[in-house]
Amino acid sequence: MEYLMGIDVGTSGVKAIIIDSTGKVIASKIESYDIKVIKKGWMEQEPESWWNSTKKVVSELVKETYINKDEIKAISFTGQMHSSVFLDKDNNVLRPAILWNDTRTSKQCEEIYDTVGGLDSLLDYVSNPALEGFTAPKILWLRENEKGNYEKLECVLLPKDYIRYKFTKDISTEMSDAAGTLLYDVKNKRWNSELIKKLNLKDNIFPKVVKSTDIVGNIDKEVAKELGLSEKTLIVAGGADNACAAIGSGIVENSKAVLSIGTSGTIVAYTDKNSIETKGNLHFFNHACNDSWYIMTVMLSAGMCFKWLKKNILKTAKSYDELTDMASESCPGSNGVIFVPYLFGERSPHPDPNAKSMFYGLSSNTNNKDIIRSVLEGVSLGFRDCLASIENSVDIEEIRITGGGANSQLWVSIMADVLNKEISLINIQEGPAFGAAIIAGVGSGIFEDFKSILDKSVKVTKTVKPNKDNAKLYEKYYQIYTLLYDNLKECNKLLN
Ligand code: XUL
Repeated sequence: MEYLMGIDVGTSGVKAIIIDSTGKVIASKIESYDIKVIKKGWMEQEPESWWNSTKKVVSELVKETYINKDEIKAISFTGQMHSSVFLDKDNNVLRPAILWNDTRTSKQCEEIYDTVGGLDSLLDYVSNPALEGFTAPKILWLRENEKGNYEKLECVLLPKDYIRYKFTKDISTEMSDAAGTLLYDVKNKRWNSELIKKLNLKDNIFPKVVKSTDIVGNIDKEVAKELGLSEKTLIVAGGADNACAAIGSGIVENSKAVLSIGTSGTIVAYTDKNSIETKGNLHFFNHACNDSWYIMTVMLSAGMCFKWLKKNILKTAKSYDELTDMASESCPGSNGVIFVPYLFGERSPHPDPNAKSMFYGLSSNTNNKDIIRSVLEGVSLGFRDCLASIENSVDIEEIRITGGGANSQLWVSIMADVLNKEISLINIQEGPAFGAAIIAGVGSGIFEDFKSILDKSVKVTKTVKPNKDNAKLYEKYYQIYTLLYDNLKECNKLLN
Protein backbone atom coordinates (compact mmCIF):
# COMPACT_ATOMS: atom_id res chain seq x y z
CA MET A 1 0.00 0.00 0.00
CA GLU A 2 1.11 3.60 -0.57
CA TYR A 3 0.46 6.31 2.01
CA LEU A 4 0.51 10.11 2.12
CA MET A 5 0.93 12.54 4.98
CA GLY A 6 -0.50 16.04 5.49
CA ILE A 7 0.85 18.35 8.19
CA ASP A 8 -1.14 21.40 9.35
CA VAL A 9 0.79 24.07 11.28
CA GLY A 10 -2.29 25.63 12.86
CA THR A 11 -2.86 28.38 15.41
CA SER A 12 -3.80 26.08 18.28
CA GLY A 13 -1.56 23.14 17.37
CA VAL A 14 0.02 20.94 14.72
CA LYS A 15 -2.06 18.19 13.18
CA ALA A 16 -0.61 15.33 11.13
CA ILE A 17 -2.74 12.94 9.14
CA ILE A 18 -2.03 9.80 7.11
CA ILE A 19 -4.27 8.74 4.23
CA ASP A 20 -3.99 5.74 1.91
CA SER A 21 -3.93 5.69 -1.87
CA THR A 22 -7.75 5.54 -2.01
CA GLY A 23 -7.98 8.81 -0.06
CA LYS A 24 -9.14 7.03 3.12
CA VAL A 25 -8.02 8.54 6.43
CA ILE A 26 -5.86 6.01 8.33
CA ALA A 27 -4.83 8.00 11.39
CA SER A 28 -4.34 11.52 12.67
CA LYS A 29 -2.79 13.17 15.69
CA ILE A 30 -2.70 16.67 17.18
CA GLU A 31 -0.14 18.37 19.41
CA SER A 32 -1.42 21.61 20.94
CA TYR A 33 0.38 24.84 21.80
CA ASP A 34 -0.61 28.29 23.01
CA ILE A 35 -0.64 31.76 21.58
CA LYS A 36 1.51 34.25 23.49
CA VAL A 37 -0.64 37.33 24.09
CA ILE A 38 1.99 40.02 24.59
CA LYS A 39 -0.62 42.70 25.22
CA LYS A 40 -4.10 43.46 23.91
CA GLY A 41 -4.15 42.57 20.21
CA TRP A 42 -0.48 41.40 20.09
CA MET A 43 -0.38 37.68 19.26
CA GLU A 44 2.86 35.76 18.79
CA GLN A 45 4.25 32.23 18.57
CA GLU A 46 7.77 30.82 18.44
CA PRO A 47 8.44 29.00 15.13
CA GLU A 48 10.64 26.68 17.19
CA SER A 49 7.59 25.50 19.15
CA TRP A 50 5.82 24.69 15.85
CA TRP A 51 8.86 22.65 14.87
CA ASN A 52 9.12 20.81 18.20
CA SER A 53 5.41 19.96 18.08
CA THR A 54 5.71 18.85 14.45
CA LYS A 55 8.59 16.52 15.29
CA LYS A 56 6.64 15.04 18.21
CA VAL A 57 3.36 14.56 16.36
CA VAL A 58 4.93 13.11 13.19
CA SER A 59 7.26 10.66 14.93
CA GLU A 60 4.47 9.45 17.24
CA LEU A 61 2.01 9.09 14.37
CA VAL A 62 4.47 7.04 12.31
CA LYS A 63 5.26 4.82 15.29
CA GLU A 64 1.64 4.29 16.31
CA THR A 65 0.34 3.42 12.84
CA TYR A 66 3.03 0.77 12.22
CA ILE A 67 3.38 1.87 8.61
CA ASN A 68 6.59 0.90 6.85
CA LYS A 69 8.35 4.26 6.42
CA ASP A 70 9.16 3.53 2.75
CA GLU A 71 5.44 3.27 2.03
CA ILE A 72 4.90 6.95 2.89
CA LYS A 73 5.33 8.25 -0.65
CA ALA A 74 4.94 11.98 -0.04
CA ILE A 75 4.31 14.59 2.62
CA SER A 76 2.80 18.02 2.11
CA PHE A 77 2.09 21.00 4.32
CA THR A 78 -0.55 23.55 5.22
CA GLY A 79 -0.86 26.12 7.97
CA GLN A 80 -2.13 29.39 9.35
CA MET A 81 -1.95 32.11 6.72
CA HIS A 82 -0.24 35.52 6.87
CA SER A 83 1.80 34.94 10.08
CA SER A 84 5.34 36.22 9.63
CA VAL A 85 8.50 34.18 10.11
CA PHE A 86 11.44 36.59 9.84
CA LEU A 87 14.81 34.94 9.01
CA ASP A 88 18.38 36.30 8.97
CA LYS A 89 21.13 35.42 6.47
CA ASP A 90 21.76 32.06 8.16
CA ASN A 91 18.02 31.26 8.21
CA ASN A 92 17.83 31.81 11.95
CA VAL A 93 14.52 33.14 13.28
CA LEU A 94 14.92 36.83 14.22
CA ARG A 95 11.93 37.20 16.56
CA PRO A 96 8.69 35.36 17.39
CA ALA A 97 6.20 35.14 14.52
CA ILE A 98 3.53 37.85 14.50
CA LEU A 99 0.27 35.98 13.93
CA TRP A 100 -2.62 36.45 11.50
CA ASN A 101 -4.93 37.48 14.37
CA ASP A 102 -2.56 40.19 15.66
CA THR A 103 -3.96 43.70 15.29
CA ARG A 104 -0.98 45.93 16.12
CA THR A 105 -0.56 47.11 12.52
CA SER A 106 -3.53 49.48 11.94
CA LYS A 107 -1.11 52.39 11.43
CA GLN A 108 0.90 50.40 8.86
CA CYS A 109 -2.31 49.53 6.95
CA GLU A 110 -3.07 53.27 6.74
CA GLU A 111 0.48 53.87 5.49
CA ILE A 112 -0.01 51.27 2.75
CA TYR A 113 -3.22 53.00 1.58
CA ASP A 114 -1.51 56.43 1.72
CA THR A 115 1.48 55.17 -0.29
CA VAL A 116 -0.52 53.54 -3.08
CA GLY A 117 -3.33 56.11 -3.17
CA GLY A 118 -6.24 54.27 -1.54
CA LEU A 119 -8.21 51.05 -1.68
CA ASP A 120 -8.87 50.95 -5.44
CA SER A 121 -5.16 51.24 -6.27
CA LEU A 122 -4.28 48.54 -3.78
CA LEU A 123 -6.92 46.27 -5.31
CA ASP A 124 -5.28 46.88 -8.70
CA TYR A 125 -1.93 45.77 -7.29
CA VAL A 126 -2.86 42.75 -5.20
CA SER A 127 -6.67 42.22 -5.39
CA ASN A 128 -7.06 42.57 -1.61
CA PRO A 129 -7.55 45.29 1.02
CA ALA A 130 -4.91 46.10 3.66
CA LEU A 131 -5.88 44.20 6.79
CA GLU A 132 -3.94 44.12 10.05
CA GLY A 133 -3.59 40.34 9.86
CA PHE A 134 -1.83 40.24 6.48
CA THR A 135 1.96 39.95 6.20
CA ALA A 136 2.94 43.22 4.49
CA PRO A 137 1.88 45.52 7.38
CA LYS A 138 3.86 43.25 9.74
CA ILE A 139 7.04 43.85 7.70
CA LEU A 140 6.42 47.62 7.84
CA TRP A 141 5.87 47.31 11.59
CA LEU A 142 9.22 45.51 11.95
CA ARG A 143 10.98 48.23 9.97
CA GLU A 144 9.47 50.97 12.15
CA ASN A 145 9.72 49.30 15.53
CA GLU A 146 12.64 46.88 15.44
CA LYS A 147 15.18 48.50 13.16
CA GLY A 148 17.96 46.09 14.10
CA ASN A 149 15.85 43.09 13.14
CA TYR A 150 14.75 44.70 9.87
CA GLU A 151 18.39 45.34 8.95
CA LYS A 152 19.20 41.67 9.54
CA LEU A 153 16.06 40.48 7.69
CA GLU A 154 16.96 38.31 4.68
CA CYS A 155 13.76 36.30 4.18
CA VAL A 156 10.06 36.36 5.13
CA LEU A 157 8.42 32.94 5.26
CA LEU A 158 4.94 31.68 6.09
CA PRO A 159 4.52 29.11 8.91
CA LYS A 160 4.09 25.96 6.83
CA ASP A 161 6.95 27.02 4.51
CA TYR A 162 9.23 27.38 7.52
CA ILE A 163 8.36 23.88 8.72
CA ARG A 164 8.86 22.54 5.19
CA TYR A 165 12.26 24.28 5.15
CA LYS A 166 13.11 22.37 8.34
CA PHE A 167 12.34 19.12 6.48
CA THR A 168 14.18 19.86 3.23
CA LYS A 169 16.42 22.94 3.68
CA ASP A 170 14.58 24.32 0.62
CA ILE A 171 13.38 27.92 1.01
CA SER A 172 10.24 28.63 -1.01
CA THR A 173 6.58 29.44 -0.77
CA GLU A 174 3.70 28.64 -3.09
CA MET A 175 0.96 30.76 -4.60
CA SER A 176 -1.85 30.26 -2.08
CA ASP A 177 0.27 31.49 0.84
CA ALA A 178 2.13 34.15 -1.18
CA ALA A 179 -1.35 35.54 -1.96
CA GLY A 180 -1.98 36.28 1.72
CA THR A 181 1.07 38.53 2.10
CA LEU A 182 -0.56 41.49 0.30
CA LEU A 183 2.56 41.76 -1.86
CA TYR A 184 1.69 39.08 -4.42
CA ASP A 185 -0.08 39.91 -7.66
CA VAL A 186 -2.84 37.33 -7.26
CA LYS A 187 -4.19 37.89 -10.75
CA ASN A 188 -0.89 37.54 -12.62
CA LYS A 189 0.81 35.14 -10.20
CA ARG A 190 4.03 37.01 -9.37
CA TRP A 191 5.48 39.07 -6.52
CA ASN A 192 4.33 42.62 -7.17
CA SER A 193 7.75 44.26 -7.46
CA GLU A 194 6.18 47.64 -8.20
CA LEU A 195 4.28 47.61 -4.90
CA ILE A 196 7.34 46.30 -3.04
CA LYS A 197 9.32 49.20 -4.47
CA LYS A 198 6.62 51.77 -3.65
CA LEU A 199 6.61 50.60 -0.04
CA ASN A 200 10.38 50.87 -0.12
CA LEU A 201 10.81 47.33 1.18
CA LYS A 202 13.97 45.28 0.57
CA ASP A 203 13.20 43.42 -2.64
CA ASN A 204 15.30 40.32 -1.93
CA ILE A 205 13.42 39.09 1.15
CA PHE A 206 10.68 37.23 -0.71
CA PRO A 207 11.21 33.53 -1.45
CA LYS A 208 10.73 31.88 -4.82
CA VAL A 209 7.12 30.90 -5.48
CA VAL A 210 6.39 27.36 -6.65
CA LYS A 211 3.12 25.57 -7.43
CA SER A 212 1.31 23.86 -4.56
CA THR A 213 1.80 20.45 -6.17
CA ASP A 214 5.51 20.93 -6.99
CA ILE A 215 7.96 18.50 -5.46
CA VAL A 216 10.50 20.64 -3.61
CA GLY A 217 12.86 17.86 -2.55
CA ASN A 218 13.35 14.95 -0.19
CA ILE A 219 13.69 14.87 3.56
CA ASP A 220 17.01 15.88 5.03
CA LYS A 221 18.95 12.81 6.27
CA GLU A 222 19.13 13.86 9.93
CA VAL A 223 15.47 14.87 10.07
CA ALA A 224 14.36 11.61 8.44
CA LYS A 225 16.30 9.65 11.05
CA GLU A 226 14.96 11.68 13.97
CA LEU A 227 11.32 11.40 12.85
CA GLY A 228 11.42 7.77 11.71
CA LEU A 229 10.77 8.74 8.08
CA SER A 230 12.42 7.59 4.86
CA GLU A 231 14.83 9.85 2.97
CA LYS A 232 13.05 8.73 -0.18
CA THR A 233 9.72 10.29 0.80
CA LEU A 234 8.93 13.20 -1.49
CA ILE A 235 8.17 16.65 -0.10
CA VAL A 236 5.42 18.52 -1.94
CA ALA A 237 4.94 22.29 -1.44
CA GLY A 238 1.34 22.40 -0.06
CA GLY A 239 -1.07 25.27 0.49
CA ALA A 240 -2.62 27.85 2.81
CA ASP A 241 -5.00 26.43 5.44
CA ASN A 242 -8.15 27.89 3.89
CA ALA A 243 -7.20 26.60 0.44
CA CYS A 244 -6.44 23.15 1.86
CA ALA A 245 -9.64 23.09 3.93
CA ALA A 246 -11.54 23.83 0.71
CA ILE A 247 -9.71 21.02 -1.13
CA GLY A 248 -10.41 18.70 1.81
CA SER A 249 -14.13 19.50 1.43
CA GLY A 250 -14.09 18.86 -2.32
CA ILE A 251 -14.25 22.51 -3.39
CA VAL A 252 -12.26 22.14 -6.62
CA GLU A 253 -14.74 23.34 -9.26
CA ASN A 254 -16.87 26.37 -10.06
CA SER A 255 -20.18 27.01 -8.22
CA LYS A 256 -19.08 25.12 -5.11
CA ALA A 257 -18.41 26.70 -1.73
CA VAL A 258 -17.67 25.52 1.78
CA LEU A 259 -18.96 27.31 4.86
CA SER A 260 -17.10 26.64 8.08
CA ILE A 261 -18.44 27.42 11.56
CA GLY A 262 -15.27 27.28 13.64
CA THR A 263 -14.06 29.85 16.15
CA SER A 264 -14.21 32.22 13.21
CA GLY A 265 -16.57 31.73 10.27
CA THR A 266 -15.40 31.41 6.71
CA ILE A 267 -16.96 30.85 3.33
CA VAL A 268 -14.60 29.79 0.54
CA ALA A 269 -15.89 29.69 -3.04
CA TYR A 270 -13.90 28.28 -5.95
CA THR A 271 -13.45 30.21 -9.19
CA ASP A 272 -11.45 29.74 -12.37
CA LYS A 273 -11.61 33.52 -13.03
CA ASN A 274 -8.37 35.38 -12.30
CA SER A 275 -10.11 38.56 -11.26
CA ILE A 276 -13.35 39.48 -9.52
CA GLU A 277 -15.28 42.65 -8.82
CA THR A 278 -14.76 43.49 -5.18
CA LYS A 279 -15.12 46.57 -3.06
CA GLY A 280 -12.40 45.25 -0.81
CA ASN A 281 -14.88 43.37 1.38
CA LEU A 282 -13.79 39.93 0.11
CA HIS A 283 -10.48 38.11 0.09
CA PHE A 284 -9.34 36.91 -3.33
CA PHE A 285 -6.48 34.42 -3.23
CA ASN A 286 -4.78 31.83 -5.44
CA HIS A 287 -6.14 28.35 -4.77
CA ALA A 288 -3.82 25.40 -4.18
CA CYS A 289 -5.24 23.30 -7.04
CA ASN A 290 -5.85 23.48 -10.79
CA ASP A 291 -4.17 26.92 -11.20
CA SER A 292 -7.40 28.44 -9.90
CA TRP A 293 -8.50 31.06 -7.33
CA TYR A 294 -10.93 31.32 -4.42
CA ILE A 295 -13.05 34.03 -2.92
CA MET A 296 -13.21 34.04 0.84
CA THR A 297 -15.10 35.85 3.57
CA VAL A 298 -13.98 35.75 7.19
CA MET A 299 -16.25 36.47 10.16
CA LEU A 300 -13.95 37.02 13.12
CA SER A 301 -16.35 35.44 15.62
CA ALA A 302 -18.76 32.67 14.67
CA GLY A 303 -18.52 29.62 16.97
CA MET A 304 -16.71 32.02 19.29
CA CYS A 305 -20.02 33.83 19.94
CA PHE A 306 -21.61 30.63 21.26
CA LYS A 307 -18.57 29.91 23.42
CA TRP A 308 -18.61 33.50 24.73
CA LEU A 309 -22.33 33.21 25.58
CA LYS A 310 -21.79 29.93 27.46
CA LYS A 311 -18.61 30.95 29.33
CA ASN A 312 -18.91 34.70 29.89
CA ILE A 313 -22.62 35.37 30.00
CA LEU A 314 -24.54 32.22 30.99
CA LYS A 315 -21.53 30.89 32.98
CA THR A 316 -23.13 27.46 32.77
CA ALA A 317 -21.79 23.91 33.07
CA LYS A 318 -24.41 22.80 30.52
CA SER A 319 -22.98 21.27 27.33
CA TYR A 320 -23.38 22.92 23.91
CA ASP A 321 -25.89 20.18 23.05
CA GLU A 322 -27.97 21.02 26.11
CA LEU A 323 -27.84 24.69 25.21
CA THR A 324 -28.98 24.05 21.62
CA ASP A 325 -31.80 21.90 23.04
CA MET A 326 -32.86 24.96 25.05
CA ALA A 327 -32.62 27.13 21.92
CA SER A 328 -34.91 24.74 20.07
CA GLU A 329 -37.61 25.54 22.67
CA SER A 330 -37.58 29.19 21.59
CA CYS A 331 -39.06 29.93 18.16
CA PRO A 332 -37.69 31.00 14.74
CA GLY A 333 -36.91 34.69 15.21
CA SER A 334 -36.10 34.23 18.95
CA ASN A 335 -39.19 36.20 20.00
CA GLY A 336 -37.92 39.36 18.38
CA VAL A 337 -34.27 39.27 19.53
CA ILE A 338 -31.53 39.80 16.92
CA PHE A 339 -27.91 39.16 17.86
CA VAL A 340 -25.12 40.91 15.93
CA PRO A 341 -21.92 38.84 16.17
CA TYR A 342 -19.13 41.44 15.87
CA LEU A 343 -17.41 40.55 19.16
CA PHE A 344 -13.93 41.41 17.82
CA GLY A 345 -15.01 43.98 15.24
CA GLU A 346 -15.42 42.34 11.81
CA ARG A 347 -13.51 41.48 8.63
CA SER A 348 -16.18 40.42 6.10
CA PRO A 349 -18.21 41.88 4.63
CA HIS A 350 -17.34 44.91 6.80
CA PRO A 351 -13.58 45.26 7.34
CA ASP A 352 -14.22 47.35 10.45
CA PRO A 353 -12.40 47.02 13.78
CA ASN A 354 -15.03 49.36 15.33
CA ALA A 355 -18.01 47.13 14.48
CA LYS A 356 -19.81 46.18 17.70
CA SER A 357 -21.79 43.20 18.88
CA MET A 358 -25.27 43.57 20.37
CA PHE A 359 -28.57 41.97 21.32
CA TYR A 360 -31.31 44.04 19.72
CA GLY A 361 -35.02 43.72 20.47
CA LEU A 362 -34.82 42.59 24.10
CA SER A 363 -38.10 42.87 26.00
CA SER A 364 -39.49 41.91 29.38
CA ASN A 365 -40.57 38.59 27.81
CA THR A 366 -37.11 37.64 26.59
CA ASN A 367 -35.69 34.51 28.23
CA ASN A 368 -32.47 32.46 28.09
CA LYS A 369 -33.84 30.20 25.36
CA ASP A 370 -34.45 33.21 23.09
CA ILE A 371 -30.98 34.58 23.81
CA ILE A 372 -29.26 31.29 22.92
CA ARG A 373 -31.29 30.88 19.75
CA SER A 374 -30.64 34.50 18.75
CA VAL A 375 -26.88 33.84 18.89
CA LEU A 376 -27.21 30.87 16.50
CA GLU A 377 -29.44 32.98 14.24
CA GLY A 378 -27.24 36.10 14.46
CA VAL A 379 -24.10 34.20 13.41
CA SER A 380 -26.12 32.69 10.54
CA LEU A 381 -27.25 36.19 9.50
CA GLY A 382 -23.59 37.20 9.44
CA PHE A 383 -22.89 34.28 7.08
CA ARG A 384 -25.79 35.42 4.89
CA ASP A 385 -24.23 38.88 4.70
CA CYS A 386 -20.93 37.27 3.63
CA LEU A 387 -22.59 34.98 1.10
CA ALA A 388 -24.46 37.93 -0.43
CA SER A 389 -21.16 39.69 -1.18
CA ILE A 390 -19.62 36.50 -2.64
CA GLU A 391 -22.68 36.03 -4.84
CA ASN A 392 -22.13 39.50 -6.28
CA SER A 393 -19.04 37.97 -7.91
CA VAL A 394 -19.80 34.30 -8.59
CA ASP A 395 -22.82 31.97 -8.64
CA ILE A 396 -22.96 29.32 -5.94
CA GLU A 397 -24.92 26.13 -6.54
CA GLU A 398 -23.68 23.90 -3.76
CA ILE A 399 -22.76 24.85 -0.19
CA ARG A 400 -21.02 22.32 2.05
CA ILE A 401 -20.73 22.89 5.77
CA THR A 402 -17.85 21.98 8.13
CA GLY A 403 -16.41 23.03 11.48
CA GLY A 404 -17.69 22.43 15.03
CA GLY A 405 -21.00 24.20 14.34
CA ALA A 406 -21.82 21.63 11.64
CA ASN A 407 -22.34 19.06 14.44
CA SER A 408 -25.44 20.91 15.65
CA GLN A 409 -28.54 19.83 13.74
CA LEU A 410 -30.39 22.93 14.93
CA TRP A 411 -27.66 25.33 13.82
CA VAL A 412 -27.38 23.70 10.38
CA SER A 413 -31.16 23.93 9.86
CA ILE A 414 -31.18 27.59 11.02
CA MET A 415 -28.31 28.23 8.58
CA ALA A 416 -30.27 26.64 5.70
CA ASP A 417 -33.33 28.77 6.59
CA VAL A 418 -31.37 32.02 6.98
CA LEU A 419 -29.40 31.52 3.73
CA ASN A 420 -32.53 30.12 2.07
CA LYS A 421 -30.30 27.49 0.47
CA GLU A 422 -29.74 23.75 0.69
CA ILE A 423 -26.71 22.87 2.80
CA SER A 424 -24.75 19.64 2.49
CA LEU A 425 -22.95 17.78 5.25
CA ILE A 426 -19.91 15.72 4.22
CA ASN A 427 -18.17 12.61 5.54
CA ILE A 428 -14.70 14.14 6.06
CA GLN A 429 -14.07 16.54 8.93
CA GLU A 430 -10.27 16.45 9.03
CA GLY A 431 -9.81 20.05 7.88
CA PRO A 432 -6.74 21.46 6.12
CA ALA A 433 -4.44 18.50 6.96
CA PHE A 434 -6.56 16.24 4.76
CA GLY A 435 -6.31 18.76 1.90
CA ALA A 436 -2.52 18.82 2.34
CA ALA A 437 -2.38 15.00 2.14
CA ILE A 438 -4.41 15.16 -1.10
CA ILE A 439 -1.90 17.72 -2.48
CA ALA A 440 0.91 15.31 -1.54
CA GLY A 441 -0.89 12.63 -3.56
CA VAL A 442 -1.46 14.78 -6.64
CA GLY A 443 2.09 16.21 -6.50
CA SER A 444 3.70 12.80 -6.24
CA GLY A 445 1.51 11.29 -8.96
CA ILE A 446 -0.33 8.83 -6.67
CA PHE A 447 -3.57 10.61 -7.58
CA GLU A 448 -4.28 11.55 -11.19
CA ASP A 449 -5.94 14.86 -10.35
CA PHE A 450 -7.87 16.61 -7.58
CA LYS A 451 -11.39 16.06 -8.85
CA SER A 452 -11.19 12.32 -9.40
CA ILE A 453 -9.76 11.49 -5.96
CA LEU A 454 -12.07 13.94 -4.16
CA ASP A 455 -15.16 12.63 -5.95
CA LYS A 456 -14.24 9.22 -4.57
CA SER A 457 -13.26 10.19 -1.03
CA VAL A 458 -15.43 13.20 -0.05
CA LYS A 459 -19.13 12.28 0.00
CA VAL A 460 -22.23 14.28 0.83
CA THR A 461 -23.87 12.45 3.73
CA LYS A 462 -26.99 14.60 4.15
CA THR A 463 -28.60 17.64 2.56
CA VAL A 464 -30.64 20.02 4.70
CA LYS A 465 -33.35 21.99 2.87
CA PRO A 466 -34.67 25.39 3.99
CA ASN A 467 -38.12 25.63 5.54
CA LYS A 468 -40.07 28.11 3.38
CA ASP A 469 -41.93 29.88 6.24
CA ASN A 470 -38.78 30.32 8.30
CA ALA A 471 -36.87 31.55 5.25
CA LYS A 472 -39.53 34.27 4.73
CA LEU A 473 -39.21 35.39 8.34
CA TYR A 474 -35.41 35.46 8.20
CA GLU A 475 -35.55 37.50 4.99
CA LYS A 476 -37.09 40.30 7.10
CA TYR A 477 -34.61 39.71 9.91
CA TYR A 478 -31.76 40.04 7.41
CA GLN A 479 -33.01 43.49 6.38
CA ILE A 480 -33.03 44.61 10.03
CA TYR A 481 -29.61 42.98 10.62
CA THR A 482 -27.96 44.95 7.80
CA LEU A 483 -29.69 48.19 8.90
CA LEU A 484 -28.33 47.73 12.42
CA TYR A 485 -24.73 47.86 11.16
CA ASP A 486 -25.33 50.69 8.70
CA ASN A 487 -27.23 52.85 11.18
CA LEU A 488 -24.95 52.33 14.15
CA LYS A 489 -21.59 53.10 12.50
CA GLU A 490 -21.53 56.58 14.03
CA CYS A 491 -22.49 55.24 17.50
CA ASN A 492 -19.72 52.63 17.21
CA LYS A 493 -17.16 55.34 16.55
CA LEU A 494 -18.41 57.40 19.49
CA LEU A 495 -18.38 54.41 21.81
CA ASN A 496 -14.78 53.70 20.82
C1 XUL B 1 -7.40 33.89 6.66
C2 XUL B 1 -6.99 33.97 8.07
C3 XUL B 1 -7.21 32.80 8.95
C4 XUL B 1 -5.96 32.03 9.12
C5 XUL B 1 -6.21 30.99 10.21
O1 XUL B 1 -7.28 35.09 5.98
O2 XUL B 1 -6.47 34.95 8.53
O3 XUL B 1 -8.24 31.96 8.48
O4 XUL B 1 -5.56 31.44 7.92
O5 XUL B 1 -5.30 30.01 10.22
